[in-house]
Amino acid sequence: MNVTLGFDVYGTLIDTAGISTALNKFAGTQTVAFAGLWRDKQLEYSFRRGLMQNYQHFAVCTRNALDFCCEALGIEISSQEKDWLMAQYKVLPSFSDVKETLPELQASGFRLFAFSNGLANDVIGLLEHAGIISYFVDVISTDEMKSFKPNPAVYSHFLRRSGATGQQAWLISGNPFDVIGAISAGLRGAWVKRSDKALFDPWEIQPTITIENIGQLRAGIGDTALSPSRLSAA
Ligand code: 2OP
Repeated sequence: MNVTLGFDVYGTLIDTAGISTALNKFAGTQTVAFAGLWRDKQLEYSFRRGLMQNYQHFAVCTRNALDFCCEALGIEISSQEKDWLMAQYKVLPSFSDVKETLPELQASGFRLFAFSNGLANDVIGLLEHAGIISYFVDVISTDEMKSFKPNPAVYSHFLRRSGATGQQAWLISGNPFDVIGAISAGLRGAWVKRSDKALFDPWEIQPTITIENIGQLRAGIGDTALSPSRLSAA
């Protein structure tokens, strides 16, 4: 079977920092801090809900995190304005390397899936808005397991749904916790390190490959086609 690529969505295909344009009118000089804290808290809430087995949709984590940021940074945003910001989260931009690379990967015979914490409808909307939905075989949401990454069950679910084995499947993500989760569950993991400043967690699990953008993916996979996922002593 052809190699299966599971693309993380928020932070890999879609740029969550893109919310800054909409946030700016409320957060002004605190916009960058607000956007970063919003993303961190959104993920923290998903981790906690996963551990507590107290599942709510990812959009609930996002909304609760928005409320937290307003309190933490002392910024007043009305309920209606928060609804508007949440709507902007559904039309975030894709990273610039994505639209030009996905057609090449598809033409090379890779099977492309979107694999996200986000609800399938929200992810489909984002990919449609970005003009890239047609390159994906399917959208697989962790909502189907009522849990979140990096629960190993959601990566196993990805393999079942995509019909791939761990040896045939790659998780492509800009989020280190996601790459570690996927490799720990038996997939290969490509870390998209788009910034020099991005850090990978100093754990015993390292990415199978590290690339600076999606354009380097095909060459990176080619170099490691038959090697096992890399485990290194920290
Ligand atoms: C996603 O699953 C982790 O937010 C990231 O799309």
